[in-house]
Amino acid sequence: MTVDARERVRAIVAAHQGERGSLMPILHAIQDEFGCVDQEVVPLLADELNISRAEVHGVVSFYSDFRSEPAGRTGVRLCRAEACQSVGAERLVAHAEQVLGIKVGQTTPDGSITLGQVFCLGNCALGPAAQVNGRLYGRLDPSALDAVLARETAGS
Ligand code: FES
Repeated sequence: MTVDARERVRAIVAAHQGERGSLMPILHAIQDEFGCVDQEVVPLLADELNISRAEVHGVVSFYSDFRSEPAGRTGVRLCRAEACQSVGAERLVAHAEQVLGIKVGQTTPDGSITLGQVFCLGNCALGPAAQVNGRLYGRLDPSALDAVLARETAGS
């Protein structure tokens, strides 16, 4: 798990601080962002929430909603943080949801694409930004995103 991903998990936990029964919404937020709840998240969440690893693992494995790895062959994460929002990130999210026929956090029925979200990729000057298959893209508009998706899914 990258340092960046760990920071994002901590930020998600912080956003739910003080809520009762926050584990489920935290897990859903993690899956929405990363497309899955990675096993490496379990000890991190246990530490952050001051509960046992067994407790976190029990919840993750009990609910079939949670996937342990991204279902789609191509992982798409669209940035929805402030700088990207100010230059059209939400329009890009709406476009992606419409063309793919899924919502953020879901995978296309053919298993080709999992659509996720992220809150800053460090590419703010070149927003709206996205990460597709680990590669960073900037200045995306709907047609540029379509082109990226066509290229990244070619042959997958
Ligand atoms: S706000 Fe989108 S990359 Fe920073």
